[in-house]
Amino acid sequence: MNKILLKGGRVIDPSRGYDMVGDVLIDGGVIAAVAESIAAEDAEVIDVSKKIVAPGLIDIHCHLREPGFERKETIATGTMAAAAGGFTSVMAMPNTNPVADNPAAMHYVKNKGEQEGHVHVYPIGAITKGSQGKELAEMASMVEAGAVAFSDDGRPVENSRIMRLALEYSLIFDLPIIAHEEDLDLVDEGDMHEGYMSTVLGLRGIPRAAEETMIARDIILARQTKAHLHVAHVSTANGVEMIRKAKREGLNVTAEVTPHHLTLTDEAVKTYDTNTKVNPPLREQSDVEALIQGLKEGIIDCVATDHAPHTIEDKVIEFHFAANGISGFETALPLMWHYLVHSGKFTPMEMLRMMSTRPAEIMKLPGGTLQEGAPADIVVIDETLEKTVDGKSFYSKGKNTPYEGVSLKGWPVMTLVDGIVKMENGVVKE
Ligand code: DOR
Repeated sequence: MNKILLKGGRVIDPSRGYDMVGDVLIDGGVIAAVAESIAAEDAEVIDVSKKIVAPGLIDIHCHLREPGFERKETIATGTMAAAAGGFTSVMAMPNTNPVADNPAAMHYVKNKGEQEGHVHVYPIGAITKGSQGKELAEMASMVEAGAVAFSDDGRPVENSRIMRLALEYSLIFDLPIIAHEEDLDLVDEGDMHEGYMSTVLGLRGIPRAAEETMIARDIILARQTKAHLHVAHVSTANGVEMIRKAKREGLNVTAEVTPHHLTLTDEAVKTYDTNTKVNPPLREQSDVEALIQGLKEGIIDCVATDHAPHTIEDKVIEFHFAANGISGFETALPLMWHYLVHSGKFTPMEMLRMMSTRPAEIMKLPGGTLQEGAPADIVVIDETLEKTVDGKSFYSKGKNTPYEGVSLKGWPVMTLVDGIVKMENGVVKE
């Protein structure tokens, strides 16, 4: 395998607090050396001066839609979008058709990921059969087949006894339960966040309590079981507060936040653009500020895209009937750089920790580091590059973005997976 020398970049490795201008040598698909200056005459030299070289981004929450919803996305197109966005590993949610609730489904996603994927793909197994919330899925055999976590994402586990059992069983495998926190009775027919904007727009509201009551329940169950509860897509200030208290108490609770909940409020819904319809819904400025603060303090452990591609037919329809979700892979890093790094709220090191090192740690995945011997999963970022978001040009089949036409500064310009260049200057290599 070719040797590659990434020359003269600002090398940032949050796994060991390393931030220096230097070179990275890749040999045999792994990081061979990181130093101020490396001479390797037999290596292909890539000039990355004035760019950031960092561990590839790791997304612990995405929807690749295969099998069953190939009109929305496939493992091939979804991972192309991931590579375009600077991601080198992704965890695929099981709300496919059929639901990925058995070992064959884990093998299917894993094998397809290996054969057709452009980045590493890790399957998440469903918590309950068909994600119906009635009966636990075959957790043990899914672990043997490669499941890295369990989730009924897209739906809550409404039955508290089933959730307790799931948390108890998860201890055997030392894998997290990723909880989609939503009380469906409180959501009722809601379409957006319940507040001033929902009243003005005449859309049915989803109260914060729909999320908060379920986070509260699951933290109580995590305390009782001592299992690892991971709270998906936190959207409320009070949600952050409860997770803060749980952590202070020493519970094994982690959490994620999406780029859209960090950068948009329910004001965005005022155009009735269904691309702003997402679950949980976009909240208010006070929530956004609490989420940013929670992420900054590490109360929220990481950024996860909840990449949720949908077809035009799923979205160009009355607001109430439109599907929830945002196609997120290709805008995640530029959104975080534009709004949170360039504004000085986060240093590049802090942001990369939240998008690579920390997700790898909490999900016990390889990557998230530039240590010698680690897989050469790398992203190169041009902090000065400005581009306008254009959904049509996404590699993802899902063109559903609420950021259409927004100009963002700070984009990934190269993605390497196991030492192979998968994306260069925005172009994914087939
Ligand atoms: O907006 C969302 N879309 N939230 C979810 O929980 C599910 C996801 C999907 O599958 O489209």
